[in-house]
Amino acid sequence: MGRLSDKVAIVTGAASGFGKGIARKFAEEGAKVIICDLSADAAKAAAEELSCDVAVANVTLREDWERVLQQALDKHGRLDIIVNNAGATYVNKPTVDVEDKDFDLVMNVNVKSIYLSSSVIVPYFLREKRPGCFIQISSTAALRPRPGLTWYNASKAAVNTATKTMAVEYGPNNIRFNSVCPVVGITGMTHLFLGKPDTEENRAAFVSTIPIGRPSQPADIANACCYLASDEANFITGVNLEVDGGRCV
Ligand SMILES: NC(=O)c1ccc[n+]([C@@H]2O[C@H](COP(=O)([O-])OP(=O)(O)OC[C@H]3O[C@@H](n4cnc5c(N)ncnc54)[C@H](O)[C@@H]3O)[C@@H](O)[C@H]2O)c1
Repeated sequence: MGRLSDKVAIVTGAASGFGKGIARKFAEEGAKVIICDLSADAAKAAAEELSCDVAVANVTLREDWERVLQQALDKHGRLDIIVNNAGATYVNKPTVDVEDKDFDLVMNVNVKSIYLSSSVIVPYFLREKRPGCFIQISSTAALRPRPGLTWYNASKAAVNTATKTMAVEYGPNNIRFNSVCPVVGITGMTHLFLGKPDTEENRAAFVSTIPIGRPSQPADIANACCYLASDEANFITGVNLEVDGGRCV
């Protein structure tokens, strides 16, 4: 028996990076996983590699959330876990140089996606009187912001506050909401955070503030998510779990 046996999970942004690591861990622990990503080719490849279902979807669109929920119910008859991992940032730059499209990107992909996922899926849990589990992939940027990423950092702070609010509101319905806050990792987004190519040398300033002395890895984030998604965590809600080698201390 795996730690997530019989559970059905949607993992967004699971074609690469942290999301793919989360999908891998959940599948290893017995969950039925729907890899949900905007990038069709990468999503299909990840789904094939990990023996998961695939849904090509844009997390900023209500109709896509409705379609992915229906896909889970049609195929598996239930949904238990939503990992809101898909995220976006603009390149690190002075705040006065940020353009409207940069602001809209981070607010839509990082925040509106949380709004839409809860707006579409919480009613399902309430209707079916089922326990539910939402995990948002936030960031240490919400808690220990660095310069040059003002609106990315603010979008992740919004994720944390929305998560805590919904944890309080829906605790009586046994729907849990938690955030995981990773420190910098090595993924498709890292060069944007750095504002320069992702090399060990360019990463050194970020890594120097991490007591354990290394960037995060997808498995670090996946292990934290697995715990939060499992029944071992059925009394844990409203938590922002920093997975950061001590960065936020
Ligand atoms: N990499 C880091 O250093 C770091 C640190 C802290 C938090 N995070 C967060 O981790 C999460 C995962 O990012 P990652 O680092 O693995 O990056 P990544 O670029 O490897 O993965 C992001 C995935 O999200 C998908 N995506 C983007 N917009 C989407 C949309 N509108 N709809 C559906 N899918 C979409 C992309 O196609 C991609 O597969 C993000 O929320 C990010 O903010 C990353």
